[in-house]
Amino acid sequence: MRFHLGLKAALAVGAFCAQCTAQTYQRLGSCPTLGCILPPDQADFLPGQYFDIRVEVHAPLNGSEVIPGYTNPDTNFTLTIARDGQTPKAAASFFNVSEPTLETWNFTWYEDLFAKAANTPSQVRVAAKAYRHVALYQPGNYIATLNYRNGSATYANWTVRDIAPTRKAKNVVMFIGDGMTTNMITAARLIAHHQINGKYQSKLAMDSFPVLGHQMTHSLDSYITDSANSATALYTGHKSTVNALGVYADSSKTSFDDPKVETIAEIFYRLYKGGVGIVSTAFIADATPAALTAHTRDRGQYGAVIDSFLNGITNYTWTNWSGPDVLFGGGAEQFYPGKGSFQGKDYYAEFANKNYTVVQNNTILQKSSNSSKTLGIFSVSNMAKWLDRNVYPDNLKIAKTAPDGSNGTATDQPGLKEMTIKALEILHTRHQQDGFFLMSEAASIDKQMHTLDYDRALGELLELDDTIKATLSYLESIGELNDTLVLVTADHGHGFDVMGNVDTKFLNAQKDDRDKRGAVGTYQNSGLSQYLVANRSAPVGSDQNLIYNAGVNFPSNWDPRYTLYQGLTANPDHRENYQVHKTGPRLPALNITGFDNDDYYVNYVDAVTGFIVNGTLPVSADQGVHSLTDVPVFTRGPCQEQFGGVYGNIDIFFGLAGCLGLSRTSHP
Ligand SMILES: *[C@@H]1O[C@H](CO)[C@@H](O)[C@H](O)[C@H]1NC(C)=O
Ligand SMILES: *[C@@H]1O[C@H](CO)[C@@H](O)[C@H](O)[C@H]1NC(C)=O
Ligand SMILES: *[C@@H]1O[C@H](CO)[C@@H](O)[C@H](O)[C@H]1NC(C)=O
Ligand SMILES: *[C@@H]1O[C@H](CO)[C@@H](O)[C@H](O)[C@H]1NC(C)=O
Ligand SMILES: *[C@@H]1O[C@H](CO)[C@@H](O)[C@H](O)[C@H]1NC(C)=O
Ligand SMILES: *[C@@H]1O[C@H](CO)[C@@H](O)[C@H](O)[C@H]1NC(C)=O
Ligand SMILES: *[C@@H]1O[C@H](CO)[C@@H](O)[C@H](O)[C@H]1NC(C)=O
Ligand SMILES: *[C@@H]1O[C@H](CO)[C@@H](O)[C@H](O)[C@H]1NC(C)=O
Ligand SMILES: *[C@@H]1O[C@H](CO)[C@@H](O)[C@H](O)[C@H]1NC(C)=O
Ligand SMILES: *[C@@H]1O[C@H](CO)[C@@H](O)[C@H](O)[C@H]1NC(C)=O
Ligand SMILES: *[C@@H]1O[C@H](CO)[C@@H](O)[C@H](O)[C@H]1NC(C)=O
Ligand SMILES: *[C@@H]1O[C@H](CO)[C@@H](O)[C@H](O)[C@H]1NC(C)=O
Ligand SMILES: [Zn+2]
Repeated sequence: MRFHLGLKAALAVGAFCAQCTAQTYQRLGSCPTLGCILPPDQADFLPGQYFDIRVEVHAPLNGSEVIPGYTNPDTNFTLTIARDGQTPKAAASFFNVSEPTLETWNFTWYEDLFAKAANTPSQVRVAAKAYRHVALYQPGNYIATLNYRNGSATYANWTVRDIAPTRKAKNVVMFIGDGMTTNMITAARLIAHHQINGKYQSKLAMDSFPVLGHQMTHSLDSYITDSANSATALYTGHKSTVNALGVYADSSKTSFDDPKVETIAEIFYRLYKGGVGIVSTAFIADATPAALTAHTRDRGQYGAVIDSFLNGITNYTWTNWSGPDVLFGGGAEQFYPGKGSFQGKDYYAEFANKNYTVVQNNTILQKSSNSSKTLGIFSVSNMAKWLDRNVYPDNLKIAKTAPDGSNGTATDQPGLKEMTIKALEILHTRHQQDGFFLMSEAASIDKQMHTLDYDRALGELLELDDTIKATLSYLESIGELNDTLVLVTADHGHGFDVMGNVDTKFLNAQKDDRDKRGAVGTYQNSGLSQYLVANRSAPVGSDQNLIYNAGVNFPSNWDPRYTLYQGLTANPDHRENYQVHKTGPRLPALNITGFDNDDYYVNYVDAVTGFIVNGTLPVSADQGVHSLTDVPVFTRGPCQEQFGGVYGNIDIFFGLAGCLGLSRTSHP
């Protein structure tokens, strides 16, 4: 299913694709014919990685694909598998599993916007089977063939990559700047690092990584991805569909029967009982953390996602998964008993019953033992932003944000750095021998870009960079730096850039929108960054330039007269004054009285001194959207050389899994 979120939900969730209704409608992504194989043609596998196969045979009842006389799908279809030109074998005997039972269902889809507007969905009947929990061990090409309807056939050419089962890294730390692009990194560097005559005196921590690559983010059936889809690619090596976590999306209604693919966290735990850490500044059921253990076609199944962190895949398991060592983030509404939690259960208690230490604020987090598994949930919904925690702390005093579900406020929240270093301390203490895999996500780069709150987004990015810096020095201090592959990347971009500066004093003084635009300075009028101020208390005679923000690397002034002229390429209607939003995260567009509920217009209390920028997105959009751009990949440590150049997002999985020695060329 695809999501349309109303204002309230968007506020809570922040980063959802509010306009995820498809323009190019497809009967089933990846399946242009009436016979479907998932994983589809061109899928790549790690040797020994578990996965499910789904085959579907479709009979269109009406619409453009109708075949006269064919209204019941063939139920006598066969799936065969042939390795590298060998004789095809029936799938069940190839994998030595019993023949699956036949399933049938119906679904409907719209062929285009006209069909949608007229509410004339096309109907399809389906016959299907699922081969669960199989694996391919020998590298090479495999042809899966679905024969159906008297001579029709669908082929899938699968590649099991030739990856040696040799472990080169003891640990992996994977940082994901959600939605982070090179343009945002460039802007963050500009406002936080001093330069003299165009030459930077210091740089970002990620700038110091020896290897830089670019990953292409587009997905199986759409070129713009969401975070679920791309996280699936990064963690499993399989491209998927918008809103899908750790599965290929099939056409059935239930969101838990889709064919699953094993994730890097699951394989790492299955093979080594290695430590797994999951840290995010989002609500922890959000897509990027969720995709490490959840397997559902619907990222909105938040309660089930939390259950999967603790219990693995319920009712179906390929590991004796026993939960991550560390799970830190927001999203308390899926933990305390109530509507948000799985089956209404108390998940703080569920974790505690499995011997997790449960912490709910930074003070207790810092005091807690490094030797036990730890669940840290610090707020309802997404965690507070760096800018609010550090510059405008009064904005944290919002009732009902306390992680215990009370009316209280969550004022004692850790930042990404505090969570990540604590996670490393626990993982290091518990997994001295077998190593660890830690994923740490700066989630609100994306969330704040969605709502056009560029300053908050850049603050989150700088916090990520500060976290990376602290991580490298912590790893060095415990002697693990050389054995740890540290990778920094994103899951997709947003069309953000900086085009000049804005004289906000002049802009605020003008009455007319067209005059206000005269405050925008481009080219030679873009000036220099005003976000850093010299340390006036520096000793006389010392080099002021070197004392600018030394060791801090955040702006010292978020509200200068000359601000960045910055923005996104896809917007809802909104107003811009290019000034920091001091009272809390921005809400650029509202559904206002007199319009439909899903018709969003300029939020009349946002950026009031600015000028109106008419949107280009559908009017149902209340926020910006993801974009096509390749995103950067910074690496240092064992296997770093594999991550230079331009490659697909799935290659990150194969690079990480290969470096950790996770392939198995024979049945364990
Ligand atoms: C805006 O939309 C929300 C739900 O999407 C609805 O509850 C609310 O009434 C709408 N507001 C107006 C002014 O239409
Ligand atoms: C099913 O297919 C097999 C061979 O593919 C054939 O022998 C058999 O007669 C078919 N059965 C039906 C009911 O069509
Ligand atoms: C097939 O599976 C069965 C039981 O699951 C097992 O007894 C048998 O040894 C397996 N055969 C092969 C060739 O792996
Ligand atoms: C599918 O639709 C057909 C015709 O509308 C109906 O007869 C049949 O029962 C449906 N099958 C399922 C599995 O819902
Ligand atoms: C298909 O049939 C259903 C049921 O009669 C109808 O509601 C729908 O509009 C039809 N779709 C098309 C594309 O004709
Ligand atoms: C399958 O793909 C591989 C790699 O792209 C290619 O070498 C091979 O020829 C393909 N096999 C078939 C039967 O198309
Ligand atoms: C697993 O099965 C149990 C019992 O049938 C059911 O209560 C539970 O909801 C299922 N869990 C999931 C995630 O589907
Ligand atoms: C929790 O710890 C206790 C005491 O060490 C132990 O007996 C028990 O088996 C543990 N439970 C789980 C689920 O690990
Ligand atoms: C932090 O959590 C502890 C234990 O739940 C609680 O006693 C304390 O009051 C909390 N501190 C703050 C500042 O919320
Ligand atoms: C909840 O907190 C708000 C603001 O702190 C306060 O106005 C309100 O009275 C409180 N409600 C309850 C039921 O305590
Ligand atoms: C880590 O590697 C560097 C470069 O190879 C080397 O100089 C350094 O001594 C190593 N440190 C440790 C703790 O092994
Ligand atoms: C924005 O669009 C509206 C029509 O929707 C138009 O009336 C208005 O002039 C436009 N404003 C600007 C600043 O382009
Ligand atoms: Zn994302």
